[in-house]
Amino acid sequence: MQIKLEEPNEKQMLFLKDKHKHVGFGGARGGGKSWAIRFKAVVLCLNHSGIKVMIVRKSYPELTENHIKPLKSMLFVGTPGSPAKYNDSKKEMTFLNGSSILFRYCDTEKDVDRYQGTEVDVLFLDEATQLSESQIKKIIACVRGVNEFPKRIYYTCNPSGQGMGYIKRIFIDRKYELGEYPDDYSFIQSLVTDNKALMKSNPDYIRQLEALPPKLRDAWLNGRWDVFEGAYFEEFRATPDPIECESAGITVEQALDEHRWTHVIKPFEIPVEWKIYRSYDWGYGKPFSCAWWAVDYEGCAYRILELYGCTSTPNEGVKWSNKEQFDRIQQIEREHRWLKEKKVRGVADPSIWDGSHGISAAEEADKHQLWFEPGINDRIPGWMQVRERLKFDENGKAMMYFFENCKAIIRTMPLMMFDEHIPEDLDSDLEDHAVDECRYFCMSRPLAPRIIKNKVKPEIDPLDQFNQNERFDRAIYRRT
Ligand SMILES: Nc1ncnc2c1ncn2[C@@H]1O[C@H](COP(=O)(O)OP(=O)(O)O)[C@@H](O)[C@H]1O
Ligand SMILES: [Mg+2]
Repeated sequence: MQIKLEEPNEKQMLFLKDKHKHVGFGGARGGGKSWAIRFKAVVLCLNHSGIKVMIVRKSYPELTENHIKPLKSMLFVGTPGSPAKYNDSKKEMTFLNGSSILFRYCDTEKDVDRYQGTEVDVLFLDEATQLSESQIKKIIACVRGVNEFPKRIYYTCNPSGQGMGYIKRIFIDRKYELGEYPDDYSFIQSLVTDNKALMKSNPDYIRQLEALPPKLRDAWLNGRWDVFEGAYFEEFRATPDPIECESAGITVEQALDEHRWTHVIKPFEIPVEWKIYRSYDWGYGKPFSCAWWAVDYEGCAYRILELYGCTSTPNEGVKWSNKEQFDRIQQIEREHRWLKEKKVRGVADPSIWDGSHGISAAEEADKHQLWFEPGINDRIPGWMQVRERLKFDENGKAMMYFFENCKAIIRTMPLMMFDEHIPEDLDSDLEDHAVDECRYFCMSRPLAPRIIKNKVKPEIDPLDQFNQNERFDRAIYRRT
């Protein structure tokens, strides 16, 4: 049987030919990393009898989708004449010449124990930054043996995940510790733009990367490793951005009235037809946060009211028991003119169904006839949804606003910082209760990413009569 392999691109070729002991590849999304691993693993196995290769990915579903399935189809496994067989219980692909590829995952620290006793010649860590430094080091210990095959470790990576600090140190910063030899390490950067096959087959993929918030875009599209520091919600504005107002030719007051270039706005009366939602984050010994949202016909969300308080002995304010929280929430929904007689749909922190601290908060809520559905707790996709709603379109309009009476979110959102260990997550040691509950709400009504057109900056031409008149009109308007 003839196996026809696709052609590697230029960067993939560098990766395939690299002879260092530790080879890093990628550094961004969609750069053809998993493809390069599959190609290299197959070429090694077909050309060297008896070689042992292992491909590791964090989770089993990712391992299946990125490696097991594509390799089975690439090698026609299961059809007569195929050079390889696959044993599902051993998660091992064996070749007629005695070579083999082991497929392994490593979701938790405990999973590493299963690697003890495994010996391989070549190891591929696909998306190595998703593994922790200690997991990486323990798995690498499997690369040993007395045969003549060179021992190599290939890491594909992008700036994200808990192992980012380690991978950045060895491949990007090239700062080495005792026992690490600089000459053993090489890194080949590959961006989505280097993956010609993907650019051709799925040109939308790059547009999705371009639509990311600036820091994530810099990391995942441009392969920058140094962007995850400072404020997490860089797009959040408590007042209209004066520079944007100036370039849009409006005053800050106008922008505030028109809900442009700001997320904090003055309260207005909620039309009766708008739907109302409630989001809730429970805190055991930490603050709880409850918010009410009104959603307009276009799906834009307005945080109209909130209740925020402490659940343990507080340094400030009152301590709230579960019962007191739900008494108050119930009272607000019964009495507030925006909420009474409305059906309020609730979404909550999934931990409220946890009864290990006594009667669960969900049970207490039930007693108060306050219903919740469990929030989807996928943090990174959740933050992407929050940021998607915060994003301004070319006219300065967002998909989420906060009434100025919602003090907790306005105070805490700008304080959120990137997590040191999981770079695209936020640091959960901070006061994140209001943003957490905001995340559950956003995840319950997800938006497709909006591609914002680049603003065309008007050129100011002193002889342009139209612009001059417009400015003149506005000057009169302001004075009256
Ligand atoms: N040299 C190539 N020839 C054909 N298709 C390729 C090539 N390199 C990558 N691809 C395809 O491009 C897409 C993205 O590549 P992948 O390896 O999954 O990227 P990454 O792992 O870096 O996110 C996949 O569909 C893959 O099959
Ligand atoms: Mg991949």
